[in-house]
Amino acid sequence: MKLHIFIVNVFMLIGMLQAAPVRPFADETLFTEAIQAKNADEFFMRFGYMKNITTRTRHVNKAVKRKEAIRKFQQFNGMNITGELDEETIEKIKQPRCGVADFNESSRDRPLQFNAPGYKWSRKTITWKVTGYTNQIPNATQRSAFKSALKKWSDVTPLIFENTEGYPDIEILFARGNHGDGSHNAFDGPGRVLAHAFYPTDGDTHFDDDETWIFRSGTGTDLEVVAAHEFGHALGLGHSQNTESLMAPFYKRMDIGWKLHQDDITGIQSLYGVPEDQLSAPLPSPSNTSSGINNKLIYNIRYIITAIIVYRYILEMLIML
Ligand SMILES: *[C@@H]1O[C@H](CO)[C@@H](O)[C@H](O)[C@H]1NC(C)=O
Ligand SMILES: *[C@@H]1O[C@H](CO)[C@@H](O)[C@H](O)[C@H]1NC(C)=O
Ligand SMILES: *[C@@H]1O[C@H](CO)[C@@H](O)[C@H](O)[C@H]1NC(C)=O
Ligand SMILES: *[C@@H]1O[C@H](CO)[C@@H](O)[C@H](O)[C@H]1NC(C)=O
Ligand SMILES: *[C@@H]1O[C@H](CO)[C@@H](O)[C@H](O)[C@H]1NC(C)=O
Ligand SMILES: [Zn+2]
Ligand SMILES: [Zn+2]
Repeated sequence: MKLHIFIVNVFMLIGMLQAAPVRPFADETLFTEAIQAKNADEFFMRFGYMKNITTRTRHVNKAVKRKEAIRKFQQFNGMNITGELDEETIEKIKQPRCGVADFNESSRDRPLQFNAPGYKWSRKTITWKVTGYTNQIPNATQRSAFKSALKKWSDVTPLIFENTEGYPDIEILFARGNHGDGSHNAFDGPGRVLAHAFYPTDGDTHFDDDETWIFRSGTGTDLEVVAAHEFGHALGLGHSQNTESLMAPFYKRMDIGWKLHQDDITGIQSLYGVPEDQLSAPLPSPSNTSSGINNKLIYNIRYIITAIIVYRYILEMLIML
């Protein structure tokens, strides 16, 4: 009977349970635990905490993998590390979040880095365009939300964002369910996954139209906050382990006038640097003798290091010969 649970579609079972006056399972606790474990497995696989397991994976291995995944999840999200599917962990799993994975499934333990090389735009001006609006809020309001979300990033980098009528770098759209970028990216109805975005040089950013979207006031999910988070991905940032940062995977309601966390700023500046007006200010003047000496010293050290590297390289080449 218990094995049965893993074979039959869970959601169908939940539906049956709610409808049936007599519950078909004698041990309700075991049933609930099995459901939670299966849902948790799906969650951990989906977000890169656990390698894909199948019905053919042995039960013992599943338990071990699940425990590892739970610990990894708890650590990444600043929770007590128990390795158990405790109340707090189950609650966290149910929270609304971004659809981008927290870890890269294909490279086992490495979290997606801020400064993952290759994931950045090579030019300063990046264009955007909304190709599919939601009809929940006015079109102009949606553009305002996106503009102000992008400004969070352009305020701390040399990047310039331009709304274009032509072919954009960042294509923004709202969609429901499976929307043409693979079944694992399909949106999931209200709650859970809110949006996702693709790293540069793709940059496309999609929002789940089954959420209730708001702009700054009302009851629902704030478009500006989620958009700013997703644009972080579209610019090359992964998820942050700092639970206070914008780039943490779970949604947080923010106060009006909210600012990026220092963790987000450090991340984006590691990719694009500081704004140009901030660049010119702290440059040391060459007439300052003490810093002049420092520069000379640094230059000499660099020269020596380069010389050593070149020397070693030549030596290795000779050895190979
Ligand atoms: C697991 O892998 C199989 C085949 O590789 C794939 O069809 C399936 O969608 C994957 N499941 C998840 C949850 O990633
Ligand atoms: C960790 O557990 C303690 C005691 O069970 C609890 O008071 C605390 O809130 C937990 N910490 C977090 C981050 O949830
Ligand atoms: C995941 O890792 C693989 C191999 O290391 C790499 O090719 C791929 O680009 C990575 N994907 C992401 C989203 O980081
Ligand atoms: C919003 O934009 C879409 C697509 O451009 C358009 O079809 C729709 O009529 C617009 N809605 C309003 C209220 O202008
Ligand atoms: C030279 O640099 C030192 C510290 O690096 C600073 O205190 C001093 O004001 C500078 N002098 C000039 C002339 O810029
Ligand atoms: Zn995200
Ligand atoms: Zn999508």
